[in-house]
Amino acid sequence: MKQFISAEDVQDIPALVNQALAYKQQPLLDKQLGANKRIGLLFLNPSMRTRLSTQIAAQNLGMEAIVFNIGSEGWALEFEDEAIMSGSTVEHVKDAAPIMGKYFDVLAIRTFPSLKNREDDYSELFIRQFIRYAGIPVVSLESATLHPLQSLTDIITITETLKANPLPAGRKPKIVLTWAPHVKPLPQCVANSFSQWVNAWGNADFVITHPEDYELDTKFTNGATITHNQEEALKDADFVYVKNWSTFNNEYGKIYCNDPAWMLTNEKLSTTNNAKVMHCLPVRRNVELSDEILDGPNSIVTRQASNRVWAAQAVLSNILQSK
Ligand code: CP
Repeated sequence: MKQFISAEDVQDIPALVNQALAYKQQPLLDKQLGANKRIGLLFLNPSMRTRLSTQIAAQNLGMEAIVFNIGSEGWALEFEDEAIMSGSTVEHVKDAAPIMGKYFDVLAIRTFPSLKNREDDYSELFIRQFIRYAGIPVVSLESATLHPLQSLTDIITITETLKANPLPAGRKPKIVLTWAPHVKPLPQCVANSFSQWVNAWGNADFVITHPEDYELDTKFTNGATITHNQEEALKDADFVYVKNWSTFNNEYGKIYCNDPAWMLTNEKLSTTNNAKVMHCLPVRRNVELSDEILDGPNSIVTRQASNRVWAAQAVLSNILQSK
């Protein structure tokens, strides 16, 4: 694996999931693999889970991890080619990224979308410029449109849940991605990425439900059943993935309603196949997801977040072995 920014960078998702689950059993299995190697973790935006789990994963492989909150502590970076830098940006990525390529063996980056200009965000300019100029493998810690480490974690969590509680032979799990209310516009990254990975994995009956106007980019959702009827979508679900996202079509990056009717409750969950409930976190309690769900027996959000370590470890392991 030369880079990890999308499901398209993975040849065999089940094999990567199995490797992650092997690391969960034996975290220090490959403690020597990253000896004398260094990973730079660049954050242009906030994080808790991604930052900590990737550091732990790197340490489990014997790597040194250096975190740089470049968004708040570094020079303001320019990403546009041929920019006349007379504004607020101080250093061009063309100058900064090659230096990081000398300091580190692997570079990992978190860079959120602006939600102001869809073409700019969906061009993935920031992470693509780092890939272009760093000269070393780049790992996405969440980019403008995708969150692949989260999605790999999600498939790992679904796989281990199904191993512990198998479905009848031949039946694929029904996985429902449902939109949830929020107080502010959020990126489409997690929903895009989850859709891309579930489709690429191919082992699910996949349904996406959201209010009108919240259609996602079809390049990620193609293959899923899409409905505006949440009640119908939830029926007999085995997994319900809850997430807010802002508009993609028409007016980009907006949130039109904060309709509490879309929040998942135990009453809604009663029509599912005792579905496990997932969320990438952080979550706004009693806006996106109710206390009764988050604190109840169907929530697997803590296990899901803890699996972030094994996802990151499997990815870094593959990158180290390809170098
Ligand atoms: N789910 C996730 O990426 O969490 P953080 O934003 O805390 O890293």
